[in-house]
Parts: sequence; structure tokens; C-alpha cells
Amino acid sequence: MPITTCVFDAYGTLFDVAAAARIAAAEPGREAFAEKWPQIAQDWRLKQLQYTWLRAVADAHTDFWEVTQDGLDYALEAAGLVDNELRERLLALYWELSAYPEVPAMLKALKDAGMQTAILSNGSPEMLTGAVSSAGITDLLDDVLSVQDVGVFKPHKFVYDMVCDRFGGERSEVLFVSSNGWDAANASGYGFYTAWVNRAGEPMDRLPWKPQKVMSDLTGIPELAKERP
Ligand code: LAC
Repeated sequence: MPITTCVFDAYGTLFDVAAAARIAAAEPGREAFAEKWPQIAQDWRLKQLQYTWLRAVADAHTDFWEVTQDGLDYALEAAGLVDNELRERLLALYWELSAYPEVPAMLKALKDAGMQTAILSNGSPEMLTGAVSSAGITDLLDDVLSVQDVGVFKPHKFVYDMVCDRFGGERSEVLFVSSNGWDAANASGYGFYTAWVNRAGEPMDRLPWKPQKVMSDLTGIPELAKERP
């Protein structure tokens, strides 16, 4: 079945999640942070995601902004860098993460080909609006779907259900794109056609499902969407 709708994960897929820590590390007076930022950024992201999974399993949903702060607090403490000014700066930067360079042209090519485009993210509507508008891609997306509307984080089935509820059609008409291997794998198990954007060359997650395509960035997405018979 041809692809009619292309749906993207947000953080790490369209938006560079490491950008907040990278920018802060380059600012004057942050020498201690500059030495440790890659590990802090990695711990921040991992804890943020772990907290979403744990809260989904425990039926203890909260706003993605809260788990983003909780993950950062854990990462800063683990690095021995509890510093409120740094914490506030990193959180402020998270609201204006840059999009990866190929994102605007990639979305424009999908729109020119007549595809519906959307984000499907754990992010709260406010966080996503901030990131989408600071990246200048508002007009290239038909919708921005937040898990807040179903009250549970990915990879709960209710989250993936939001796509066909919004756009109609069959699951197999949806190309779902994520840089998170677990998200791409689960979406594949759900019945979407999926691409895993593996920028860092990570190993494939050991889950019962696999993404149909693995790519190193988003450049090939319009071609993949158009070619799919
Ligand atoms: C999101 C996270 C998982 O945007 O990257 O949903």
C-alpha cells in the first residue's frame, strides 16, 4: 500500500537533543561542565527515557517536561555538578533545540509529493510548539501529536493509535521515522512501515520487531516514502 502519511518522532529525530548541552558547554565560565558535558547529555537523555517507560508501566503518567527535569537532575548529580544556574540554562535551551540541517528540505519534499506530515512525540504540546517554531518548520507539518492527549508515554499502543485516528487510512500507509531504535521497533510491531535513523551507528535493539529501513540521516526519507509500492 502506498505511503500517504509520514510521521516523525521529535527529540533526537527532528531535533538535536544534545544541542542544549553542547551550546551551554561552549559558553564562557562553564569549564567544569565543558569537561563532562557528553556524559551528562547521555545520562540526561537515558534517564529521561527510562522515566517515561517506568511511568508508563507503573500507570504514573506526568508531563514530559517533568521527566526532562528529573533526568537532568539525576545526570547533574551523577556528575557531581549540582548547579542551579547551569540547570536553568540547560532547561531553557531545551525549548529551542535546533532541527538537524536536512529537516526543512526533507519535509518540503514530502509536502511537494502530497504526503501528510506530522510529529508524534512524548513531548508536551507546549514543548513541541516551542521546538517546531524555533526550527521554523510549523508550515511543513499538518499536525503535532502529543502523548498528552492519551495520558501515557511511548511505546504504549494508545500513542501509535493517535496517527490513524487523526489522519485515517491503514497502519501500513504510515511511514514512521524515529532515531530511537526502541520506538522504531515498536512502531514496526504496531504495523507502521518504519525507518530507524541511526545517526550514531548504534547496535539494533534486541526486541521482537525490527524497523524495515535503517538510515544514517533523514535525507533519504522522501525517496523512501515515494518508492514504497
Ligand atoms: C519523543 C522522544 C521519544 O519525541 O524522542 O517522543
